[in-house]
This record gives sequence, structure tokens and C-alpha cells, in this order.
Amino acid sequence: MELLVPSHSALPVRAWNAVRSRGPRYAWHKALRRVLGRWPSWKRHWLYSDPRLYWTLRGGEDYFREQEGQAARTLRTEWLAQRLAAYRPACILEIGCGYGKLLRALRWRIDVPLVGLDFSTTQLEHARRFLEGLDDIEILLGCGECLPFPDGAFDMVVTSAVILHNPPKAAEHIRREVLRVARRFAAHNEETSRSYNRYGYDTAAWYRSQGIVLAESGPIPVDPDPATSQFCVAKLSP
Ligand SMILES: C[S@@+](CC[C@H](N)C(=O)[O-])C[C@H]1O[C@@H](n2cnc3c(N)ncnc32)[C@H](O)[C@@H]1O
Repeated sequence: MELLVPSHSALPVRAWNAVRSRGPRYAWHKALRRVLGRWPSWKRHWLYSDPRLYWTLRGGEDYFREQEGQAARTLRTEWLAQRLAAYRPACILEIGCGYGKLLRALRWRIDVPLVGLDFSTTQLEHARRFLEGLDDIEILLGCGECLPFPDGAFDMVVTSAVILHNPPKAAEHIRREVLRVARRFAAHNEETSRSYNRYGYDTAAWYRSQGIVLAESGPIPVDPDPATSQFCVAKLSP
């Protein structure tokens, strides 16, 4: 259980509490994220060589509070949920569901089975709490590159800020898996900007290169940086 420490506490106090609540590895990871701020290539090398480990250390109470404290994140999630619901899918799989922010927003809008999958145990721990009491949402530990579902298992498959966190080979595996398990729609919010943990892909261009028709594609109007945001929905069958 993570300790709740006010963010204005002195650095040594926060560091000590990070060690006490989640161990030295977590505290070291957190410190590196700050210290290496100005050196993105070192940051990628030291912090992001194993995305799954990164997200396991990154997930948890701190991350949850940080994200929930950002009004822009909520605005974007609400916008996405509304767009996705407009397609009236019969069921949805979200790959990389994190702590369940989008699944929760979807549940308020559509009454269809929802499944969330993520490779981070700490994110899923929070998802279970965040989604508690909501009907028909299944949460699974798994990897986007090798989905544990048969072909065409879901009417719609969604990723939101997930493919961009994977290096090119893994990103390609995820896209192929999306196409394999989706029946009618594949929807993505995947920014094109780069950072130490973002690879930045043009997902809409990828679908076009595969000869797949897009039902829509464009920036997310409520995003703080619409120039690099991208939402697209691929239409896989009539
Ligand atoms: C930035 S968070 C986004 C969470 C959620 N989609 C949202 O929009 O609130 C990225 C999430 O994707 C997960 N993720 C990244 N790559 C993944 C992969 N290859 N397989 C499964 N989960 C992945 C991470 O563990 C993390 O929880």
C-alpha cells in the first residue's frame, strides 16, 4: 500500500516515503525520471529499455493522482468516450487500459461488454479499484503484442496512448493483433510527438498504407496540443 505524502513535502521526506512504500527500486526509478529530465536519450536508455518494467514501476497511487489531477486528461477521455460510443459497438477491448479511465467513461455512455488489458500489474490494481461496482467490465493482465483472444473476438478494439509507448517492432505486432481480434472497428488515440518514452507514430498513415479505409481521422480538438494529437477509426468490415 502506497503512503499518501503531500507533494509539497521536502525532497528527502518524499524519497524516504517512496522507499518505504514501494521499495528502493521504485524510489530510484522515480529519482531518475526527475534527474535525467534534460537528457531524453539517456532517459530512454536508463528508464525505458523495458517498457513493461517502466509501466509497472510508474503505475500506482502517485501516477493515479497525477493523472486525475489534470483536467485536460479528463476532457480528452470524455471526448474519446463520446466519439467511440457514437459507433455503437457491440463490445470493446481496450489494449493498455491503464487504471481504467477510458473504460469508466465508456461505461457511463454504453451498456455493452468492456474488456481492458494491460501488461502493468500496478496499473491493473488501480483499475480494479477505480472500476469497482461498474457492471460488465473485465480486466486482464496481458501483452498487446500477443493477445489472448481468438480472431474477431471484439466488435471494436481501442488503444489510447499505448502503441506510441512501444518501440517499432512491438508497435507493429500490436497493430497486427488489433486487426486480428477486431471485427468492425479499430480506434486509436496515438500522438505523433516523441519523448524519452514515446516513439510517436502516424497511425492513420499506417492504416492507409495497408489499404484500410478510415471512418475518421484528425486531431483531438480538446487536446492541449492538437498539432501532435491524432484520433482515427479504421473501418474493417461493413
Ligand atoms: C499512458 S498509459 C494510457 C492508459 C489508458 N489507455 C488511458 O488512456 O488512460 C499507457 C498504458 O499502456 C500500457 N501498455 C503500454 N504498452 C503495452 C503493451 N505492449 N501491452 C499491454 N499494455 C501496454 C501501460 O502499462 C500503461 O498502462
